[in-house]
Amino acid sequence: MDVEVIERESADAIAAAGSTEALSRVESSVLGKRGPLALAHRELGALEPDQRREAGRVLHEARARLEALVADRGAHLAAAERAIALAADRLDLTEALPMVMPVGRGRPHLVSQTWDHLEDVFVGMGFDVAEGPEAETDWYNFEALNIPPAHPARGMWDTFYLNLGEPETVVLRTHTSPVQIHLMEAAVRDGRLPIHAVMPGRCFRRDTPDARHLATFHQIEGLVVDRGTTFGDLAGTIETFTTAYFGADIHSRLRPAYFPFTEPSAEFEITCSICHGDGCRTCSGTGWIELGGCGMVDPAVFDAVGIDASEWSGFAFGFGIDRCAQMRHGISDMRALIENDVRFLRQF
Ligand code: FA5
Repeated sequence: MDVEVIERESADAIAAAGSTEALSRVESSVLGKRGPLALAHRELGALEPDQRREAGRVLHEARARLEALVADRGAHLAAAERAIALAADRLDLTEALPMVMPVGRGRPHLVSQTWDHLEDVFVGMGFDVAEGPEAETDWYNFEALNIPPAHPARGMWDTFYLNLGEPETVVLRTHTSPVQIHLMEAAVRDGRLPIHAVMPGRCFRRDTPDARHLATFHQIEGLVVDRGTTFGDLAGTIETFTTAYFGADIHSRLRPAYFPFTEPSAEFEITCSICHGDGCRTCSGTGWIELGGCGMVDPAVFDAVGIDASEWSGFAFGFGIDRCAQMRHGISDMRALIENDVRFLRQF
């Protein structure tokens, strides 16, 4: 048989093999013991020695070229088969997972936003920010604030007691005023007078929740201890704050009041933002909402912490953060702040 024809037909068969398996079948039929090359090789015996040598060389070269073709085609087919297997193995997790409801991005609660905003306003006015513990001893919550055990003023704060009496009485703080004591004690200890600080924090009272009261609420306390401080400084600070936080259309007023730890003392009220002063359920028909208390630091408090009242004077104030949020955003019932209804909270 003509070697050229054998080579051409074999090369066509190799090129046509569509898989490694088909190629291996082609390889054994073309190059194997019973293949056309082997057959042609056997026929060499009948030739003259010179012709045999020449025909043997031609056969050998044809076999070498076909073997190279098989190796090339084999590498190509194996790579294609690996790629197909890998693609089949790939796991598409997005197809495997069930549909997941998209989760909306959260935001700070309105009370936290208000807390931050109030801090910003006071920091802008030159105040530092400090915080104190939520559980206080009787000394910090009452006694150091000039409220001794039998003092009738204790009736002003319905208190949650954590421990009564021995070894000492511990309460959930009813106001942020005890942080004043911590701050003054630390300032005396470290020689860091004067003090200009605000102290936001959570407070607790056995108040029945209503339109403007919660049992867990928040206050921001203010304390200035300096030389020559006057009631005018206090009134000016309150006025500056009111305008900065509520805007020029909300008015404030100070009314004489009593707090054992300030003398003189005042209640700080602002125009009710729900009814704009006409009187409504939220402000009990008065047109004014009490925001907090304030006054000049009582010398008895300076005595309790070891500050010389003949050298230093000061003022303090404390008001409700929840009450501020309520008035700034016209929320008629404060209980909405703790009901966790996202339709309400999402508005802020
Ligand atoms: C005090 O707590 C004094 N410590 C304030 C003070 C500080 C006076 C420094 C003088 C000097 P009062 O009990 O009035 O005062 O509370 C102050 C404010 O806290 C209230 O006007 C109100 O805004 C807020 N508040 C009080 N109780 C509640 C409550 N149950 N729920 C929500 N806010 C409240």
